[in-house]
Amino acid sequence: MSSFTLADWLLQRLDIGAGGPVYRQLYQLISRAILDGHLEAGTRLPSSRILAGDLAIARNTVIQVYEQLVIEGYANAASGRGTYVEDLSPDRIEGSSDKRRGDGQASAPCPRSGLSPRGQDLIDHVGFSNRQMGAFMPGIPDVAEFPFKAWLRIQNKQWRHGAAQLMSYAPAGGYEPLRHAVSEYLGSVRSVNSTARQVVITTGIHQAVDVATRLLCQIGDVVWIEEPSYWGVRNLVLSSGLKAVPISVDQEGMCPTAQELASPPKLIVVTPSHQYPLGMVMSLARRRMLLEYARQNGCWIIEDDYDSEFRFGRRPLPSLQGLDDAGLVFYAGSFSKTLFPGLRVGFLVVPDDLAMAFAGAVAELYREGQLITQSVLAEFLREGHLTSHIRRVRNLYAERRLGLIAAITRRYGDRLDIVGEHAGLHLVLALPDRVDDRRVTREAIEQGVVVRPLSNYYMKPGGEKKGLLMGYAAVPMPEIDPAFDVLAGVIDTQLDGWHPQGVPLQNS
Ligand SMILES: Cc1ncc(COP(=O)(O)O)c(C=O)c1O
Repeated sequence: MSSFTLADWLLQRLDIGAGGPVYRQLYQLISRAILDGHLEAGTRLPSSRILAGDLAIARNTVIQVYEQLVIEGYANAASGRGTYVEDLSPDRIEGSSDKRRGDGQASAPCPRSGLSPRGQDLIDHVGFSNRQMGAFMPGIPDVAEFPFKAWLRIQNKQWRHGAAQLMSYAPAGGYEPLRHAVSEYLGSVRSVNSTARQVVITTGIHQAVDVATRLLCQIGDVVWIEEPSYWGVRNLVLSSGLKAVPISVDQEGMCPTAQELASPPKLIVVTPSHQYPLGMVMSLARRRMLLEYARQNGCWIIEDDYDSEFRFGRRPLPSLQGLDDAGLVFYAGSFSKTLFPGLRVGFLVVPDDLAMAFAGAVAELYREGQLITQSVLAEFLREGHLTSHIRRVRNLYAERRLGLIAAITRRYGDRLDIVGEHAGLHLVLALPDRVDDRRVTREAIEQGVVVRPLSNYYMKPGGEKKGLLMGYAAVPMPEIDPAFDVLAGVIDTQLDGWHPQGVPLQNS
């Protein structure tokens, strides 16, 4: 910028009146000119009086900009005889590999690398969707049924009386009264053996699995997950640098082959109360086998008990953790399904000797807070609102579940199987292997009906079963039939050889 003055260069670019505050424009233009090398190191900037005159702006504006450039290291005014551009070239950076070539040119920049392989793998397999409502979004409770009044009353009380000490970071393990309340609740409804000390409050099962994999496994360790399984857990395991090995499930739950049993993993993640997504309950024999195998081979187990409160018919089997006398099982639960997912409160019940370590790690890694919410929840549980809410919505969900089953059987009779309908907030409508369930899902979503393709939950290529995960808990009765009609219209286009009403064409 020698034959051409800085003032000329700035005049071509400043947009006085329309381009935002002159101070900001001037600062941005000069700092960018320094970074891009248009203003070379050692160049003396014009005096503030001259530059202000040339640009027809207030001198104070230029003085302020120069001061800012000095503060941020773009320029120096150390000599007191003007303001000089600083040398910001990369080879001034200690140890920089970007050495100038002999001709003074910078060497070619190293291409900016993108996501790491595990980061890319995570992004390639995201299951998260911005659509979290509507028929038949799986895994969502009916948030409209939440007992707002009771919650608000308790919340107002907590803000009035306890706010100051609840506005800091959470102590390790979370709010003490909530840990007590959760321990008592789990003991009575899930036969979980715990003291409050063993309950670590988390932001949900995701965080519980994340901290458990970090504390129990080394990078590269093998983790068994169910096949099919929840994509969230699969992604957590893989993005922690662990090797997820999918283990098939049968009617009794996770079912490793003899060959798989011969190579024990470090950690096993299971959903014994309600296999996700297929819905079977792990038999007592299989539970005992898994516990014994883990004991003999030094494996840890995470029991993901995400929705066991909703069981229609038989009483749920007690938790796996309740059967464990070797201290190998971590029990992970959450209020996402019993109250509402956005609450982001869950818990991890940790074997006693590791309880302090886990509480400390959660505080260290995630710097927990939300003590007000945790205190409201503690009181909410203590006053019995959780159990009465679950009792009430269980009846409502049972009715909606029957409504959906009726809609399916009216349309398809026994030609399409319904799987996993005895518990939880969703069921699976099985489809023949030739049907592209991902395409059905895409087309249904285009028509306003949300389902998820079963094949997405499998890891082993070629072994996927086809079907649709359909949530019913949050779909009011009058919406079930019309939404199902829309979905069935899409399914029928994929079921070649089928009459739209479900009667096989060859019979008509
Ligand atoms: C099997 C399973 N585990 C865990 C979760 C997530 O739980 P949270 O919301 O507590 O992180 C889900 C959510 O749908 C799930 O289906």
